[in-house]
Amino acid sequence: MLRDRIRCQPLLDKLCTADEAAALIQDGMTIGMSGFTRAGEAKAVPLALAERARKQPLKITLITGASLGNDLDKTLTDAHVLARRLPFQSDPGLRRAINAGEVMFIDQHLSETVEQLRTRQIPPVDIAVVEAVAITEHGGIVPTTSIGNSASFAILAEKIIVELNLSQPTTLEGLHDVYIPSRRPARMPIPVVTPESRVGLPYIPVPPEKIAAIVVSEKHDSSSSILPPDDETRAIAGHLKALLLEEVRQGRMGYDLLPLQAGIGTIANAVLHGFLDSPFHDLKMYSEVLQDSTFELMDAGKLTFASASSITLSSEMYRKVLPRLAEYKHHLVLRPQEISNHPEVIRRLGIICINTALEFDIYGNVNSTHVGGTHMMNGIGGSGDFARNGYLSIFVTKSLAKNGAISSVVPMVSHVDHTEHDTDIFVTEQGLADLRGLAPRERAISIIRNCAHPDYREQLEDYYARAVKRGGHTPHILEEALSWHQALKETGTMRR
Ligand code: COA
Repeated sequence: MLRDRIRCQPLLDKLCTADEAAALIQDGMTIGMSGFTRAGEAKAVPLALAERARKQPLKITLITGASLGNDLDKTLTDAHVLARRLPFQSDPGLRRAINAGEVMFIDQHLSETVEQLRTRQIPPVDIAVVEAVAITEHGGIVPTTSIGNSASFAILAEKIIVELNLSQPTTLEGLHDVYIPSRRPARMPIPVVTPESRVGLPYIPVPPEKIAAIVVSEKHDSSSSILPPDDETRAIAGHLKALLLEEVRQGRMGYDLLPLQAGIGTIANAVLHGFLDSPFHDLKMYSEVLQDSTFELMDAGKLTFASASSITLSSEMYRKVLPRLAEYKHHLVLRPQEISNHPEVIRRLGIICINTALEFDIYGNVNSTHVGGTHMMNGIGGSGDFARNGYLSIFVTKSLAKNGAISSVVPMVSHVDHTEHDTDIFVTEQGLADLRGLAPRERAISIIRNCAHPDYREQLEDYYARAVKRGGHTPHILEEALSWHQALKETGTMRR
């Protein structure tokens, strides 16, 4: 069985234990590990590293594609291994350490990390640790359920540790399309012209001699923790469907729409789920994560193709999809996150981008990352890559959080991830604000009227009316603009 998976025979000599492989990692190194939104992360080596660090303290910079499953970020945090972490995470334990200033977190657009590595703007990767389903005859690494940044980590690193995961089906081979942009100053256009375009190799090309260790693992990916749709997310999906039907009626697109991107999390998944009950058909996705809704739409015959960088499913959906992967494979491609999130491709394809906000303000600035303006939630992820470059930049959220103590629509966001210049449409369960062609004063009226919860609408109208009296293109009362967040801290609610 191992010979089927390690087809480059000399590499069989590199088989070793996770402890032996982890021993290659030294204090102060920069490690590039596979893993993107809880899919396809190296699993055995980081655990062995954490175990070692408990006895022999060491610190590393850990770069991944995005968040890791199997509680690895928690385990590495608890073992005090992480000095620096980039570009995304979603673990409560690591979040606490970041917010306590114990781990230096660089919250980065997901398309950018490997550009900075390639051009040596940030310290180089010493060792890449990549989960694989197989190694080809010439040493090519076939990734598993995500590609993320793995290809560039492996190509740029001094050494590579491969984690061969025997629990991942060999039908994953052929799913990936590894394309690496050429070097500047003569970089060629990225030849992805449709979501289906295959422009690279089905494996990561590396010289076999760079593979320093191969560890066998059988650990599964963690299942996603998204919640099922509820009345509010169903309402959000309803407003969005009405908007897109109007786009069709206006002749701006057909019932197949333009390629869809949907961000991580419960709300974005529920919104796509809502497309099951819609007149749209022959849909395509050009996204970064494929969640349950992708496969529900495919099974219903609504979605014909999906391109992304990872597949992250609930345990029930894993049980359905993995045995049938050979069938789905013709309708799927996994790309490096540099390509799935590339501004050039996103603008070319004209993506309908649906991402989630923690809060947005009356002028359309969005905070996706910082609770109360100071405390990191997960990170910007790919939302900025898509929001800035998409055809339609849509942000969704429920109008209230924490049982109504928080209004998601505020006078001024406490941290800006996406500026008003990058956002077109806002949707809450209350309704939809279409800001295209509107000036700030018009945007404010539309957002308050359509998106704010009735409990906070008057409060927002009152703020806006008083701000307008002070004048300005974007009227504000600066000394009061963040008072809602202050009130939340002091009284436990934004309600007056
Ligand atoms: N202030 C404080 N907390 C808030 C809040 C606000 N304005 N709005 C929401 N929250 C809390 C919720 O109460 C919930 O808390 P809980 O985990 O204690 O229950 C948590 O944030 C998550 O919110 P939820 O409504 O369940 O949404 P979600 O699971 O869809 O996640 C984001 C929302 C914004 C955190 C998530 O989408 C994210 O990290 N986005 C940034 C990255 C990104 O967009 N990537 C997309 C490209 S793929």
